[in-house]
Amino acid sequence: MTQQIVERYGDGVFNHAVLTEDERLSALTQELDPASFGRLGSLPFRSDWRCLELGAGTGTVARWLADRCPQGSVIATDLDLQLVQSRHEEQANLSWLHHDLTRDDFPPGSFDLIHARYLFCHLRSREHDLSRVLGWLAPGGWLLLEEPASFPIESSLHDAYRQTSMGVFTTLAERIGTDCRWPRTLHEHLNRAGFTEVEVDVTYSVVGGGRPMSRFWELTVDQLAPDLREVEGITSPMITETLARLRDPEFRDLGMATIAAWGRRPGSTA
Ligand SMILES: C[S@@+](CC[C@H](N)C(=O)[O-])C[C@H]1O[C@@H](n2cnc3c(N)ncnc32)[C@H](O)[C@@H]1O
Repeated sequence: MTQQIVERYGDGVFNHAVLTEDERLSALTQELDPASFGRLGSLPFRSDWRCLELGAGTGTVARWLADRCPQGSVIATDLDLQLVQSRHEEQANLSWLHHDLTRDDFPPGSFDLIHARYLFCHLRSREHDLSRVLGWLAPGGWLLLEEPASFPIESSLHDAYRQTSMGVFTTLAERIGTDCRWPRTLHEHLNRAGFTEVEVDVTYSVVGGGRPMSRFWELTVDQLAPDLREVEGITSPMITETLARLRDPEFRDLGMATIAAWGRRPGSTA
């Protein structure tokens, strides 16, 4: 019997060795970090918290957490750590761990805070993985998830931009199982798990020349261009037009939204 090989994030698409991947993920952090730091900063931080940053990417959030918990610790994981290793100075309370969220575990109750951003949407087994992650939190511990949502692009009146961008979601769904509609239900998972103080927030992004989300999306479309040409209704001129608009300082439209949900595992903190 032949075993079917299922492509996952980083196997081909978005592999960290792709020449533009560092710049693509750096543009994303430029766009998202201010809101993430605001949400994390609104939690009742203690300087001795044990934090877990899943799918750390370029590691900016992990560094921020390590600064906030000088008496605590931060473990930052990723399938591929090459984008963090070159750029960060050592921090005594921050360690980087090669870890596949879908396969590798942590002991139950290990963390006071777990954060993940733009990660679960890319996992085919996201619901199962999320329920495992909830168990890694200590009683009273906090979970903050931030995930991308496609709905602002679905309603764009710019045809080439909308169709090409929706083709990105279709391509990613087919190749690696990405789902950018699922994040609207993030908070429901926390409610079902009995979490308390559950909250939801959303931030929008603007694309067009000079905006970090625009550079992120331009590099995403560019990387996926060979796939996009195979999507019904998308032509090479549409892709070229979309890339030009994303670089154009006079073009403005909405990019992906970010849906955040957070809450607290039942029980009291130690
Ligand atoms: C879109 S990037 C987001 C990076 C970072 N969280 C941020 O928001 O700046 C997704 C990251 O998740 C990592 N990743 C994907 N699947 C993973 C898995 N199964 N386990 C751990 N990390 C994973 C990727 O390698 C990549 O660094």
